[in-house]
Amino acid sequence: MNNFQFYSPTEFVFGRDTECEAGNYVKKHGGSKVLLHYGGGSAVRSGLLGRIKASLTEAGIGFTELGGVRPNPRDTLVYDGIRLARSEGVDFILAVGGGSTIDSSKAIAMGVPYDGDFWDFYCGKAAPSAALPVGTVLTIAAAGSEGSGDSVITKESDGLKRGAGSDLIRPRFSVMNPALTCTLPPYQTACGATDIMAHVFERYFTNTTEVGITDRLCEAVLKTMIAETPRVIAQPDNYDARANIMWAGTVAHTNIVGVGREQDWNSHGIEHELSALYDCAHGAGLAVIMPAWMEFVCGHDVMRFAQAAVRVWGCEMNFANPEATAREGIFRFRQFLHGIGMPVNFAELGADEADIPKLVEKFGIGRRRTGGFVKLSADDVAEIYRIAAHAAL
Ligand code: NZQ
Ligand code: ZN
Repeated sequence: MNNFQFYSPTEFVFGRDTECEAGNYVKKHGGSKVLLHYGGGSAVRSGLLGRIKASLTEAGIGFTELGGVRPNPRDTLVYDGIRLARSEGVDFILAVGGGSTIDSSKAIAMGVPYDGDFWDFYCGKAAPSAALPVGTVLTIAAAGSEGSGDSVITKESDGLKRGAGSDLIRPRFSVMNPALTCTLPPYQTACGATDIMAHVFERYFTNTTEVGITDRLCEAVLKTMIAETPRVIAQPDNYDARANIMWAGTVAHTNIVGVGREQDWNSHGIEHELSALYDCAHGAGLAVIMPAWMEFVCGHDVMRFAQAAVRVWGCEMNFANPEATAREGIFRFRQFLHGIGMPVNFAELGADEADIPKLVEKFGIGRRRTGGFVKLSADDVAEIYRIAAHAAL
């Protein structure tokens, strides 16, 4: 196991009706004037936003609001948010929504005290030295942004989707009521589940040895997702299944299951080019890319893939041919994703094989943190896109 530091300062407030306490948590964490940031309308339609406003008013917290965050959040709205927060004297950002809203909030939080262009943090030109505090009310289990120090934004002008990372943007608190996720359409639920599993696999496939504790934690999250995802798709109102998935999504990405080990993250980088170009859901893109990546790199460490096949997917170990076991595990992953309604190949995702050269070129522009398990050349990345384009069950 490698040396590590683990810092996860977020106060998680989990359970039924917890959103009604949002105002008190803003106050507790030092906010007096809030920018209330939300998405395309689900929080308005469900009445959630009204409850949050009532809770802020009750706690004596002033607020101004900015809705309209789109999935794969854009830099253009971030600039609007920075201007608004400055002109209104905002001292706290409250995100009500999913990863997109939370990531947009984190970008605004870093941008407000910064003299330059906030995009500097996303293109690797600068690191933030200050940020406004961020709190979240989570409405979808997926990206894990409610507990992470990451934010992913798409630059509208050139379609580059890039991440920034800093402990300064780890949420001060995250309110997590699983009941809020019951209104998710099955497709979004499945996209979220895929993303959660991908966050674990990005950490699971490692060259670091003697990491039994984190291997077993990863496997626990994956097995929970395999058991609970079909349950919530069949019964969208099943609170307990929603609760297990919601906490799994946070555990998957605070990095508690990934400390002390080299991690990969190439599947995420390769996927981000798809969601940047086609505006598809991140989880759907991962459903197409991650099994293709697994097929491509399986030979690098057959025994690790065979371990996943046996422990996560319940395959029987073929000691005479461990690679057959390893590949059976990858097949079962793709089969599982198909079973929950995820796309399997480019056509099902709405992607075009003719765009592969463009995707590979953009993948090569200024990335941080990829390829801890297997370093990939541009030709390798193109091959993974090709495997994904033609994948079938
Ligand atoms: O905008 P609204 O109307 O709220 O609709 C959203 C959106 O259309 C809808 N939704 C959310 N909660 C709902 C709901 N609909 C009904 N009922 C509810 N309770 O779901 C759609 C997707 O929302 P979004 O916020 O985009 O989902 P997600 O949480 O999957 O976030 C995806 C973004 O996070 C990034 C992805 O790349 C993508 O841009 N990621 C962020 C990470 C991080 N910050 O740590 C890590 C991840 O790997 C990921 O890259
Ligand atoms: Zn992800």
